[in-house]
Amino acid sequence: MTEHAIELNSVWYSPTGDNHTLKDIDLKIKRGASVALIGPSGSGKTTLFKIISRLLKPCSGSVSVRSSHGELEKHKMGYIPQQLGLVRSLTALENALIGAHARIGFAGTLFGLFPKKEVDLAMKYLSMVGIAHKAGKRVHTLSGGERQRVAIARALMQEPEIILADEFVSNLDIVTAREIMDMVKNLKGKDTTLIIATHDIELARNYSETTVIMKGGVKIGEICSEELDRNKVRDVFT
Ligand SMILES: Nc1ncnc2c1ncn2[C@@H]1O[C@H](COP(=O)(O)OP(=O)(O)OP(=O)(O)O)[C@@H](O)[C@H]1O
Ligand SMILES: [Mg+2]
Repeated sequence: MTEHAIELNSVWYSPTGDNHTLKDIDLKIKRGASVALIGPSGSGKTTLFKIISRLLKPCSGSVSVRSSHGELEKHKMGYIPQQLGLVRSLTALENALIGAHARIGFAGTLFGLFPKKEVDLAMKYLSMVGIAHKAGKRVHTLSGGERQRVAIARALMQEPEIILADEFVSNLDIVTAREIMDMVKNLKGKDTTLIIATHDIELARNYSETTVIMKGGVKIGEICSEELDRNKVRDVFT
């Protein structure tokens, strides 16, 4: 049994077939680890998330995402996209229930046929992220921070083994961002692998063990997050 949940070998990706937005990426992430992915805008963080979550296929190289039993099913990856991807016209509860689609089936989520067990579970997660009181509110009426919480509840409904959180607190004030990050850290099981993409060095240092540094589609470094400081990565962001 491999202890690596994620292993990428020499991954290249190009959206257009010529300019590569990921170049020769090697990455190994242990099961249960917390990893930050930092790099300036356009450095390839979101693309890397999409490769890991199998939304995109690499042009070359290999990608392996595994549970302790074998290849990890796609629905066991809780992807919290940069744009959250909530359905604005649905309620917070209905959005959370979308996370259970692998158990309920898409027809179930589409027609609102939710087993009581799943509704109870969704309410439990909404309550854990502090938004149960807004369960019946449509998402377009919620604030940014409230929406982030709904997106986390939806990811938790997947009972994920890997959580991929793409700059999902970057639009929040620093207090709310920390509160939400603390929550995710506490909810993370010991075998759950957490990867956060961020521009924020403080956030990477406080919420991850290892930081992977990206620039121009290249992985330019991997360091212990405790050693991260502004001087070390100044070059990366200029
Ligand atoms: N569909 C696409 N077609 C062409 N180019 C794309 C496409 N998607 C992304 N790119 C390019 O790929 C590069 C990497 O983009 P990506 O979204 O992965 O960066 P990022 O590190 O997540 O940036 P940010 O911090 O702004 O979210 C960028 O130069 C972007 O313009
Ligand atoms: Mg991005």
